[in-house]
Amino acid sequence: MKVIRTVKELQKQIKDLHLSPVGLVPTMGALHKGHLSLVRNAITQCPLVVISIYVNPTQFNDKKDLKNYPRDIQSDLDLLRKVTRKDDIIFIPDDKEIYPVEDKRIFHFGNLDNVMEALHRPGHFNGVAQVVGRLFDIVKPDVAYFGMKDFQQIAVIKELVRQYKYNVKIVGNPIIREPDGLAMSSRNRLLEPEMRKKVPLIYKTISSASGMIHKNTISEIRNYVRGTIEKANGLHVEYFEIVDDTKLKPVSTRREMKKGNRYYGCIAVQAGKIRLIDNIEFPLV
Ligand code: PAF
Repeated sequence: MKVIRTVKELQKQIKDLHLSPVGLVPTMGALHKGHLSLVRNAITQCPLVVISIYVNPTQFNDKKDLKNYPRDIQSDLDLLRKVTRKDDIIFIPDDKEIYPVEDKRIFHFGNLDNVMEALHRPGHFNGVAQVVGRLFDIVKPDVAYFGMKDFQQIAVIKELVRQYKYNVKIVGNPIIREPDGLAMSSRNRLLEPEMRKKVPLIYKTISSASGMIHKNTISEIRNYVRGTIEKANGLHVEYFEIVDDTKLKPVSTRREMKKGNRYYGCIAVQAGKIRLIDNIEFPLV
């Protein structure tokens, strides 16, 4: 693999290699098995894969979160060396490379701006759209890979691609979990040991909730999820919504759920100082 830090050098390498399709795996580093599964998937489909590592300041609505976000480039490179090939590129730009001038663009994503993460992290998706748009402009990938844990982010990026006519296919990879069910996330390493023991309850609860869809009302399911998780000291459910997988419109009755559509239960939990998200499909059949 090659490590490249400037846009100019990256574009020269991509041009000189003449390989296609080009895959892009955008990351903010602090890599774990979830990221590596994205890279492995990209490698099976693309002769050239660019993995970007950049902690994008514009998507952090909380400056403390940005400061505390885990960073470990050496360990990231060690992990990537094990899964990448000779021509694959690790792109580690600094702020000036990504934002040579301040990015003042404001994006509008319709209903996606009015639900779940968008309500609890104002400005977050605008920042995600800025950086992902920049990466698409720089790398010009044919395929880009994202983890399904960030369910709403994938919907936002698909909308970005639609609005700005990017010629890139968006692939969502299944969530990779720890043996106890916790969805892998770079933030997991920031959990206090006592909190780490409690958080598998999140997946356990939404898994049981997904089995309740034929016997219980949506409001019973919502009460069950909140009540069960909040029994654990220090866990607070920010939201739990059952939404369709394209418009992400929360349903409030079972009647609103149409056969043929896919629905997911999406949750955000404040676990002490750390905020975690997860989701699971609520199958209708
Ligand atoms: O999912 C992430 O890690 C980030 O939001 C992304 C897509 C790399 C943009 O900074």
